[in-house]
Amino acid sequence: MMSSKKHKVLRKAIFPVAGLGSRFLPATKASPKEMMPVVDKPLIQYAVEEAVSAGITEMIFVTGRAKRAIADHFDKAYELEHQLEKSGKKELLKIAQGVVPKGVSCTYIRQTEALGLGHAVLTAAHLIGDESFAVLLADDLIHGETPALKQMAEQHGFYGSSVIAVQKVSGAGISAYGVISGTKQGAHLYSLNGIVEKPKVEDAPSDMGVTGRYIFSPQIFDHLRALKPGAGGEYQLTDAIQMLLMQEQVLAYQFQGTRYDCGSKIGLLRANIELGLEHPEIGKKLRDFLKNELFQKLQ
Ligand code: UTP
Repeated sequence: MMSSKKHKVLRKAIFPVAGLGSRFLPATKASPKEMMPVVDKPLIQYAVEEAVSAGITEMIFVTGRAKRAIADHFDKAYELEHQLEKSGKKELLKIAQGVVPKGVSCTYIRQTEALGLGHAVLTAAHLIGDESFAVLLADDLIHGETPALKQMAEQHGFYGSSVIAVQKVSGAGISAYGVISGTKQGAHLYSLNGIVEKPKVEDAPSDMGVTGRYIFSPQIFDHLRALKPGAGGEYQLTDAIQMLLMQEQVLAYQFQGTRYDCGSKIGLLRANIELGLEHPEIGKKLRDFLKNELFQKLQ
């Protein structure tokens, strides 16, 4: 089923950043996990840049406790800019000023209780209205030639349906994911038949796990409003997707790129090493360190 044309243009993205981030305590006691850096940029900035690459101009952050740092990060830093200007640090000034590209707006809304991802997305419903929108989970960092959301926006532009990102997950790891069953529709595209949250390995309908990028038609809100607490007592986005796909086509797209689960310690470390190796300033030094010092210690 095709949606009307106005639903195909993506202007808005929701960033749910109200989770507790308990796997990173004590780092996340007073500061959100989305502000943790990979090399020199906080996770949330990678996600915003990805949204910008997909043509999105309205960023909506669903925040919780201790989330002021995110609003501060995307705000103008007058004092810092003044200091950098005074000391002639032009490159650093450009970096500080470029955090929010021109024409991009940021809105913050509070999720008063961390009742789950479905609840977080619903909290922003009145800021979306009757148009398609994206949801990005910044703790899933996706690195590749073409940003993952841009790839998905192309599919959405063509088919007009909701599109969720999936990747192949091997072995027992699948039970940490939302898992889809789908009918192959193209090289990297599936039409969804079903979706379950964190199934037992033996019950997983496929090896395709959902990752933190979604494009939804506004009809998802009807199903979010009807949600009852699901797995873990939380309002699960997965349950609303299951209801949506019974009404209209939902696509799953296997994006090109590497995804780092930066909600876990090992994922964040891997991202830092791999993106560090590509970093123009420190890449070579890091490579030398890993090869000449660290590798020998590991022998
Ligand atoms: P996670 O499942 O990673 O939960 O949330 P968490 O609380 O952030 O982290 P841990 O498990 O305690 O370490 C997935 C995404 O959904 C957001 C989180 O911020 C994260 O981006 N989220 C989750 C909300 O915004 N609100 C919620 O109520 C739950």
